[in-house]
Amino acid sequence: MNCIWPEPVVRVQSLSESGIRKIPDRYVKPPSHRPSLNHNAVVSNIPVIDLAEAFSHDAAVRSETMRRLSSACKDWGFFQVVNHGVDVELMRNIREIWREFFDLPLDSKQQYANDPVSYEGYGSRLGVEKGATLDWSDYFFLHYLPAKLRNPGKWPQFPETCRDLVGEYGKEVSKLGGKLMKIFSSNLGLQEDGLQDAFGGEEFGGCLRVNFYPKCPQPDLTLGLSSHSDPGGMTILLPDENVAGLQVRKAGNWVTVKPVPSAFIINIGDQIQVLSNAIYKSVEHRVIVNSAKDRVSLAFFYNPRGDLLIGPSKELVKPDQPALYPSMTFNEYRLFIRTKGPCGKAQVESIKSSSISSRN
Ligand code: OGA
Ligand code: NI
Repeated sequence: MNCIWPEPVVRVQSLSESGIRKIPDRYVKPPSHRPSLNHNAVVSNIPVIDLAEAFSHDAAVRSETMRRLSSACKDWGFFQVVNHGVDVELMRNIREIWREFFDLPLDSKQQYANDPVSYEGYGSRLGVEKGATLDWSDYFFLHYLPAKLRNPGKWPQFPETCRDLVGEYGKEVSKLGGKLMKIFSSNLGLQEDGLQDAFGGEEFGGCLRVNFYPKCPQPDLTLGLSSHSDPGGMTILLPDENVAGLQVRKAGNWVTVKPVPSAFIINIGDQIQVLSNAIYKSVEHRVIVNSAKDRVSLAFFYNPRGDLLIGPSKELVKPDQPALYPSMTFNEYRLFIRTKGPCGKAQVESIKSSSISSRN
């Protein structure tokens, strides 16, 4: 892959701050992809789960919570989690520090400009298709795990506490991810460490993408992030507490998530859909923007080690539930979104049909 972007990179934040009243054509989505702000106003929210109750001394509370977690993973692919064990002040501080980063002058951020091979650093697009319609957002992407890919030298040096906070935050959300992996494994009927072992045990991967969605003068024509499913294992999202924006696909509608204070939003990614042989769903989601407020979110991607083959767990393949997917490494799998950009569920669906047709 070429290591420069196919077109000059434009920072969406600079466009937004230039005071334009009309967004450039590059950001205008075809009518069927636009947010259509008024219809589909679904009064619903993704499930909210108190994680402490999954460890309650009361067996009835425990099993009811496990049941709710299980149906959230099957029916929604998404849930919010409170009492998750991550320090609320750390959550507030890390969001604030990244807001300060995006508030720095453009020149101070440009030194971290990323390229389409490693993706690491300050970026403004996903995918390298020339002439693609672009999303209304900038981001900062970094590797937290495995340790050999972690390079704090590439993380922002300003604001001053940024590197330390990312280190601390990565540790805490990784712990939360580990707890959820055990819960998912038990609920799927696997050994408690089943999913984690499939991810490479302690050598699992972790990346952080901090998304910045600037104010947009024509929010009904574009998206902050186009519809996609997350290619990795699971995503632990710290949303902006004050600004909604994430929408989740449910029965053909888009449900706008109302962030619960101090909660994380958890979603199943393609790798857990594959490992669970589609019992758990990696669900399409997208982000809408607005003209009044910008929005910051931190997506921590809890991923398998890049060089392991990931396929349906053998315990979940039965004569009446044949393997729906072939095995593939995550390094190979993640090239799709890095080349084509966000494309709904196109990737996981495409490997499914190829595995089925190869059996026929
Ligand atoms: C992502 C994502 C949602 C958000 O980064 O993959 O879906 O609310 N983010 O920013
Ligand atoms: Ni996502």
